[in-house]
Amino acid sequence: MKFENAAKLLNKYVKGETLLRHSLTVAVVMEYFAKESGEKNPELWKSAGYLHDIDFELYPNQHCIKAKEILENEKENFPELTDEIIRAVLSHGYKIANDIEPLSQMEKVLYAIDELTGLIFAAAMVRPSKSVADMETKSVLKKFKTPAFAANCNREVISNGAAMLGMDIKSLIEKTLAAMKTQSKALGV
Ligand SMILES: [Fe+2]
Repeated sequence: MKFENAAKLLNKYVKGETLLRHSLTVAVVMEYFAKESGEKNPELWKSAGYLHDIDFELYPNQHCIKAKEILENEKENFPELTDEIIRAVLSHGYKIANDIEPLSQMEKVLYAIDELTGLIFAAAMVRPSKSVADMETKSVLKKFKTPAFAANCNREVISNGAAMLGMDIKSLIEKTLAAMKTQSKALGV
């Protein structure tokens, strides 16, 4: 799915600046991971990442449930919207909203990095620079191990995601941070 079409679709359901920025952050990280591992369609990963919270603004209490209905309905308007993308979107709610387990590499990466990008963003905001540009992995790791810091970022999901990918937390943070650094201006961080 072309990213410009994913953007058209997301913009129908998400208007808030914060959620749009989070969506773009996840999209950028997804594309980075895809390119790093030589995936053949990084733009698909980017689009899936961009769409992952499509139901959150309108239906926060039915997150990862309403998304199925929305995306199934939008298939006729967006022919590139495949079951592969829809499943990836739904599976980031594994064990929290549904039982759809992340199975593909794209699904596992989305699951692992979603909450982590929020933690990295929060960690950047308490720095004098308010940026990831001069941030090191070890400082994020310290925040990760401090449950009271950005307490809404679910550490268990991040840990489970890392395990699914066969990565340790430090490596996952390192790669996600590197991805965010590539687009820090665009992401406002
Ligand atoms: Fe998210």
